[in-house]
Amino acid sequence: MTTYQITTELTTNKKQKMTVDQLGFGQIFTDHMFVMDYTAGQGWHDARIIPYQPLSLDPSAMVFHYGQTVFEGLKAFVTAENEVLLFRPDRNFKRLNASNDRLCIPTIDEELALEALKQLVIVDREWIPNAPGTSLYIRPFIIATEPYLGVSPSKKYQFIIIMSPVGSYYKEGINPVKILVEQHYVRAVVGGTGEAKTGGNYASSLKGQELASKEGYSQTLWLDGKENRYVEEVGSMNIFFKINGKVITPALNGSILSGITRDSMIQVLKSKNIPVEERQIAFEEVLEAAKAGTLEEAFGTGTAAVISPIGEFKWQDEKIIVNNGEIGEVTQTLYETLTGIQNGTIEDAFGWTIKL
Ligand code: COI
Repeated sequence: MTTYQITTELTTNKKQKMTVDQLGFGQIFTDHMFVMDYTAGQGWHDARIIPYQPLSLDPSAMVFHYGQTVFEGLKAFVTAENEVLLFRPDRNFKRLNASNDRLCIPTIDEELALEALKQLVIVDREWIPNAPGTSLYIRPFIIATEPYLGVSPSKKYQFIIIMSPVGSYYKEGINPVKILVEQHYVRAVVGGTGEAKTGGNYASSLKGQELASKEGYSQTLWLDGKENRYVEEVGSMNIFFKINGKVITPALNGSILSGITRDSMIQVLKSKNIPVEERQIAFEEVLEAAKAGTLEEAFGTGTAAVISPIGEFKWQDEKIIVNNGEIGEVTQTLYETLTGIQNGTIEDAFGWTIKL
């Protein structure tokens, strides 16, 4: 086993912790962060855990101008026995490297990243909340730091991990959310960066998101960028429909994020012998199913969102109410299975959790 050189400098000024009811999503950060630098010709170096602090970057740092950046999102949980569990962190670092490749960012050593993450979580262990529905959200990200205004891959980067104790991502919690099906704007196209977890995809989703929230909808459902017809994803989550007993989710096509919760839920469905299909699905098919009374459930999956039931879609001028605006049986089962595995109350038959 390789031993990695990671230095640790502990804070002398610990922050005050929040109470559970003060936890929203991603507004409070723990006492420490992990940082590692990259310099062309030298590779990644100076892996260190340091007190949480602002970054000092040159205003010409390339990330500010051309958006060369990638990120991940994963969670740590504390069990009733006071053990700490990470959920599928290896998959996050693998996906981070896939995003790196698309954005011309040098890949990281996934084992080093995992070791750094474990050490960071142990240092800030007391920040992991233990109330139901809470967790420690972990945000690894990489930014291009070379001070240069030419358009080319940066020669310098920082890989950083920050952590935030969180409650639920949506104010609705586990109650169904309302989603507006976007008709005009698109999030990504095949051949673009839709599959990569990079800031630009999220920046381009803001306009649609803003219009959706003005109409009282929590999120936007993105359709494909070419025909504006096929369901892609919600932006903060992948999407599933249950139609006539079968669960359907859009197949990964290069412009949809390959969600780790998406993959986990497909495996859970298969293990429970609930039919599940990954395929292209036009929103018209969802609409027809709703009219025929066979649209039984809809839900989103994501690290931040967990499993989020969808109670309503707005498509053009039509409102589609799903399952009377209530959480469906399969959605509830998936929510209980996922959160049970994550917080250690259900046996992890899939080997997804890593105990620290
Ligand atoms: C996550 O679920 O971790 C994400 O990265 C989505 C983010 C937009 C909150």
